[in-house]
Amino acid sequence: MSALPENLQEAVSYIRGSYNNVIKTGMVLGSGLGNFISEMTIEKEIGYTEIPHFPVSTVEGHSGRLIFGEIAGRKIVVMSGRIHFYEGYTAAEVAFPVRVMKLLGVQTLLLSNAAGGVNASFEVGDLMIIKDHISFATVNPLIGKNIDALGTRFPDMSEPYSRALIEKGRLIAGRLNIPVKEGVYFGVTGPTFETRAEYTMIRALGGDAVGMSTVQEVIVAKHAGMNVFGISVITDIGIREDDNVISHEEVLHAAAAAEPKLTAIFKELVKAV
Ligand code: HPA
Repeated sequence: MSALPENLQEAVSYIRGSYNNVIKTGMVLGSGLGNFISEMTIEKEIGYTEIPHFPVSTVEGHSGRLIFGEIAGRKIVVMSGRIHFYEGYTAAEVAFPVRVMKLLGVQTLLLSNAAGGVNASFEVGDLMIIKDHISFATVNPLIGKNIDALGTRFPDMSEPYSRALIEKGRLIAGRLNIPVKEGVYFGVTGPTFETRAEYTMIRALGGDAVGMSTVQEVIVAKHAGMNVFGISVITDIGIREDDNVISHEEVLHAAAAAEPKLTAIFKELVKAV
């Protein structure tokens, strides 16, 4: 028998021991994109290390706290610090926090990530609303015995990213005069960035951007019946002809530079969901 339901209950009980407000919106912030929390009125912060069974993030640029509070009059829980498969956690462990959010009452999940652009029209600093994803190059977090109480064995994935939220995101970006691209996020395990041949393959397979996160969280969120919206910040271009060395520092730098645009959109979106 899987210990997952019990582990989830223990994590949720621990959190509910110190924070009891109803929360409908959850957020996962990507590498270098954590500044959103400075716009929030913070009511409670809980370090991942305190929460039973919670995975702990180890990457630079991820601090590892669950932050509860309010923005624009709406209650929200934000994962400041994301868990990645390449850190050595299983795919299910990576997505554990999303299941915790669901049990806390979260219905809408907003995600951001840093990603490499493979669409030739993209530039560093662009925002891309994620319209769809390709998860075949990662491990599916639902592999293993299905726990029917958490969701169905074979979840439909025809609308991983809510069409209604994509439309709202588009309208908000337009109103704020923030140009946004739209495209397909191609999930990989990392931690290596891609070879030139891999970037070319990802483009050929239908990806517009590639990254090491998000898809596992989205799969579990859909399994749990949540509505999802995601934005990628394009931090490097994978298909450049010239010298194409990519570093984590460059990714964090580009993410931080684009972050205010993302925060502006998310702030409005939280009001609109
Ligand atoms: N590839 C994979 N993950 C990434 C990239 C990339 O080029 N940029 C930021 N995250």
